[in-house]
Amino acid sequence: MFVLIGCRKADFAPCSDHTSLQHAFDFPIGVAYEPAYALSDSSYRVISHYHFDQWTPENVMKWGAISFQPETYQWTEADAFVSTALQAGKKLHGHTLIWYRQEPDWLPFYQADARGWEQLLRSHIRTVMGRYRGMFRAWDVVNEAFLADGRLRPCIWLDKLGPEYLFIAYEEAAKTDPQALLFYNDFGMEDNPAKLRAVLRWVDQLRARGIRIDGIGLQMHIQLYYPDAARMGKTFFDIADHQLLLHLSELDIAVGDQLAKGNGSLSELWQKQANRYQTVVSMYSSLPRKSQYGITLWGVSDRYSWLRTADQPQESPLLWDDEYQPKPAFCALISN
Ligand code: G3I
Repeated sequence: MFVLIGCRKADFAPCSDHTSLQHAFDFPIGVAYEPAYALSDSSYRVISHYHFDQWTPENVMKWGAISFQPETYQWTEADAFVSTALQAGKKLHGHTLIWYRQEPDWLPFYQADARGWEQLLRSHIRTVMGRYRGMFRAWDVVNEAFLADGRLRPCIWLDKLGPEYLFIAYEEAAKTDPQALLFYNDFGMEDNPAKLRAVLRWVDQLRARGIRIDGIGLQMHIQLYYPDAARMGKTFFDIADHQLLLHLSELDIAVGDQLAKGNGSLSELWQKQANRYQTVVSMYSSLPRKSQYGITLWGVSDRYSWLRTADQPQESPLLWDDEYQPKPAFCALISN
């Protein structure tokens, strides 16, 4: 049964970020990590090391970032990321092996028959996971394969191999690193029962064929009032009830839409954002322990958020502001 808890409506007084966020929870607290920022920005580096015990590579391990010619790989950045993380004692969450975006530029021009495409898919998974076998806690094997209506998203793999590509991907991943947990990662399922149902049906099909999948990543790029909290909570429990781990894999909470509508000053919206973060984390905390894989924030400071654009220059969905001051959302989570 799902019980909505943690909706305390309070103002969060400024707090210091001397206490590490990772120690405030019984499950890992992760962050999307971008080595380029760590190199040029010491505050980014300090916070990502001090507050987070699990790192997801935000971009440097996507296929398009590691392969510039067919079947050849450029490992410099990915290797450096992995070794920095392991030296710092971080858990590693792999992101992502198969995604219809950030694919190599050469991929659409690759020439092969169906068997050749299958070999390419398998070889990519084997090459990347195999290089880091035993080092990653888990991988997002496939990212965003389903559309909002539950059909499979058109992509090169669906085109070349049909729906079978999804089965091939998880089969190869399980074979390559038997210790790593295997996730399917997507957005919008927290507010879309049709999409969730389609994904869970496909999980059943994988399992019926004896192919392993361990968990679902809900990206959770959400807003202050969307989606509805009870609906999100129900999704968390539906996934746990399906004997799957749940990863809130890319959490951020946008305020830009409310700001644009004039529904409060930035500081008022940040208080609401703090309550919203607290609600999400409380709902997640109320899951059975065995279902909690962890929560990952999609960035450290607002200044580098993927949501900060020319159209939304004040968008600020994360826990630290542009000057690395902890926001009310950080204070809410540390006092959870
Ligand atoms: O690395 C190049 C750099 O050389 C170049 O000078 C610069 C100029 O624009 O672009 C740089 O690449 C950018 C890359 O991030 C690294 O910063 C790309 O343009 C930019 O498109 C890319 O955006 C990333 C996006 O995925 C790509 O689709 C975001 O940082 C990243 O946060 C975002 O993450 C995704 C998850 O992987 C999957 N779920 C959705 C989430 C948000 O879109």
